[in-house]
Amino acid sequence: MAKGTKGREIRPAEGKLGVLLPGMGAVATTFIAGVEAVRKGLSQPIGSLTQMATIRLGKRTENRFPHIKDFVPLARLEDIEFGGWDIYKANAYEVAKTSGVLSTEHLQELKPFLENVRPWPAVFDPAYVKKLVGDNVKTGKNKRDLADQVIADIERFKKEKNLARLVMVWCGSTEVYRAPGDVHSTVEKFEKGLEESHPDILPSMIYAYAAIKLGIPYVNGAPNLSGDIPALIELAKKTGSPIGGKDFKTGQTMMKTILAPGFKARMLGMNGWYSTNILGNRDGEVLDDPESFKTKEMTKLGVLDQILQPEVYPELYGKVHHVVRINYYPPRGDNKEGWDNIDIFGWMGYPMQIKVDFLCRDSILAAPLVLDLALFFDLAHRAGMSGIQDWLSFYFKSPQTTAGLVQEHDLFIQLMKLKNTLRHMQGEELVTHLEGGD
Ligand SMILES: NC(=O)c1ccc[n+]([C@@H]2O[C@H](COP(=O)([O-])OP(=O)(O)OC[C@H]3O[C@@H](n4cnc5c(N)ncnc54)[C@H](O)[C@@H]3O)[C@@H](O)[C@H]2O)c1
Repeated sequence: MAKGTKGREIRPAEGKLGVLLPGMGAVATTFIAGVEAVRKGLSQPIGSLTQMATIRLGKRTENRFPHIKDFVPLARLEDIEFGGWDIYKANAYEVAKTSGVLSTEHLQELKPFLENVRPWPAVFDPAYVKKLVGDNVKTGKNKRDLADQVIADIERFKKEKNLARLVMVWCGSTEVYRAPGDVHSTVEKFEKGLEESHPDILPSMIYAYAAIKLGIPYVNGAPNLSGDIPALIELAKKTGSPIGGKDFKTGQTMMKTILAPGFKARMLGMNGWYSTNILGNRDGEVLDDPESFKTKEMTKLGVLDQILQPEVYPELYGKVHHVVRINYYPPRGDNKEGWDNIDIFGWMGYPMQIKVDFLCRDSILAAPLVLDLALFFDLAHRAGMSGIQDWLSFYFKSPQTTAGLVQEHDLFIQLMKLKNTLRHMQGEELVTHLEGGD
């Protein structure tokens, strides 16, 4: 779009924004605690593009680098209210304490606020998350009834907190793998499936349905299908709800999508990439079940293929042996350690190795993504953008992609796409790096 062209019509971010969190575990409570800590002036929103990043406008020589939050009309942190569901009754303080992510000092400072965030009873079935048994679970005559109960929770929360808008971000456990089937193919079949409590309608789909039915943006931070089925994509178009997923791109996959584009840029070949992790949080325990791990493995494995394009470069990437392992190891808690061994080769085929040892903190990496996603999906909604938000692929391991488009995994291409979309929204010139001074 040429400079000065009118951007999209965006409704202002007036009033309060409710962030709905199905699954109030380590990630969700670290996110809530962090937002409150920033609001109280106790910390900086490190890792969040919406709060910290700038965006270049016009030519580099023009020296225009506003903060993203000053460039597009985002909801303010002060205007956020939190609500959510969990299969356990524990409040956000108790969960944050047992998750072992935050220091005692932080927990004490935030205790009065976190104690007041209490999860509503969840839609849950242990058949889909094998390792958990909860005591805060809804009952209903069928899955339609459960969806109606979630809708009632959302409407009550909206009224009680006097919210202008809402956005839902799934932070629940990874469900077992299910391939998309007939019941997921149209809204009509899905709604019939809800009436009949079809076994292929998983709890996360029921939350997604409730949000999308109400025209609320829906984001999926886990690898399970959830909103990524034709029925819910169709519904989102009808109700004007922006949707996206899957699986927050943190730790090892984030590193992969930073490093792999670099090797490819230099036309270095690759024979193999072996990734293994140890982690000891509840997420790790859930992923210890092979069926939940299968869901995760699917989102983790696709990344390299798309970036390296073995079909285009068979001599460089035609035989990459890619392995991903996750090992549940309680002593490490949320502080995951991820090892990567990368076998590459260079000039005349000589082999080399790279070892990466990333001692990361899972929820610390994921929390700012929840914030950015909530704010950007709310922005998209106010800008009248419905359906799959390809421009936010930056945040996902396996970005939900509009039919006919190729999934993009390269973190830098994703970032360029994100920022150019923001420029486009505001009628600013897109950055192409083509002209002198760019
Ligand atoms: N932390 C990361 O870096 C990261 C990265 C990518 C994806 N994820 C995904 O984010 C999700 C949350 O991670 P976490 O570390 O907070 O896990 P967690 O186990 O601490 O929290 C998940 C919570 O979801 C609850 N839950 C499960 N099923 C539910 C349902 N049907 N309704 C309501 N609540 C339900 C569980 O009781 C638990 O409290 C997981 O699916 C994980 O795979 C995390």
